[in-house]
Amino acid sequence: MKVLVTGGAGYIGSHCLVELIQAGFEPVVFDNLSNASRESMARVEQITGQTVSFVQGDIRDAQALEGLFTAHRFDAVLHLAGLKAVGESVAKPLTYYDNNVVGTVRLLEAMTAHGCLNIVFSSSATVYGDPQTLPIDEAQPVGGTTNPYGTSKYQIERMLGDWAAATASARVIALRYFNPVGAHPSGLIGEDPQGIPNNLMPYVQQVAAGKLACLSVFGDDYDTIDGTGVRDYLHVVDLARGHLAALNKLAQMDPGKTAVNLGTGNGLSVLQLIHAFEAACGAPLAYKVAPRRPGDIAACYADPRFAQRWLGWSATLDLTAMCEDAWRWQSTNPSGYSPA
Ligand code: NAD
Ligand code: UFG
Repeated sequence: MKVLVTGGAGYIGSHCLVELIQAGFEPVVFDNLSNASRESMARVEQITGQTVSFVQGDIRDAQALEGLFTAHRFDAVLHLAGLKAVGESVAKPLTYYDNNVVGTVRLLEAMTAHGCLNIVFSSSATVYGDPQTLPIDEAQPVGGTTNPYGTSKYQIERMLGDWAAATASARVIALRYFNPVGAHPSGLIGEDPQGIPNNLMPYVQQVAAGKLACLSVFGDDYDTIDGTGVRDYLHVVDLARGHLAALNKLAQMDPGKTAVNLGTGNGLSVLQLIHAFEAACGAPLAYKVAPRRPGDIAACYADPRFAQRWLGWSATLDLTAMCEDAWRWQSTNPSGYSPA
């Protein structure tokens, strides 16, 4: 099965490539390297022992897509390309709608023109906004998003639904990721954020490595187990395997669009995550309580039962593996993919 992987050079994409190659799929990566490095592809080749087919290009470039779909006959697309920084999306909304939404329009046009009608899309738990009940199942309302990044994911999901309804035989799976963390157990690939990380786990990793002085815990007065925010952290290798399950499901599902949560179902607080990481890296982490971060919600975790039932997928790697693998990647690649 030949699969186009947009955004395949990024954090989640590189982990998907390893699982795809090891399962015998033939991936072709299309990435503009706006938030990634070619080195991640070299590392995937090192892990798998196979050459990765890579094309540098932008999903908003119709001509580049035409060339790509003319050169390859894809059975399916894994669509991970997108910008993902919540704060930046508030400051630059048009950049986010252009890159994420317009980019997906161009991609769907190329797919339609070339008769490639199977797509797995990287959506996010952010489409649920502030959830009404926990755990969050797929029947909960979507669209109450609080920032342009989240809204772009919601709009793309709507568009994919409309496209599937209008296109006979089109099959769409929207994977609503909860909070991916960790790295490949080889320590060769992982998350390589540019500048100061926005997300908790990469920030924790850089405090542990001595690159950042102190973690700010955004709020300790939420209605949660210890007052700090609760999220559903899942190992990126589990997440990557969820994409494999989705690709296999495309061939068996009815035409149309289906959305699936990918999470563990376990809610974990910021303090719980910090303490688990301290155990993994063997040292205490400097942190202080700071005001709540605007736009944050108290708690968010998945009801993962539909993924289990429908995709036959569930998370298998625990919090210890998430922290140990993240620490292995961080400590052996202190500058990420850049030369030290
Ligand atoms: P990432 O930034 O590491 O990967 C995204 C990749 O897309 C990068 O390699 C980037 O260079 C590429 N890209 C961006 N715009 C592009 C364009 N116009 N054309 C071609 N390539 C482009 O991010 P990630 O964490 O691997 O996330 C992958 C996907 O999963 C994104 O769509 C993201 O929104 C979604 N997602 C991520 C999280 C998370 O916490 N990491 C959570 C939910 C959803
Ligand atoms: N947090 C801190 N300090 C930090 C960073 C985060 O205390 O320096 C806290 C947050 O307040 C929150 C928790 O850690 O309680 C997790 O925050 P992240 O920024 O790591 O993740 P979010 O749940 O806010 O959002 C992430 C992605 C979104 C995605 C969402 C659901 O950034 O793009 O998960 O998948 F939509």
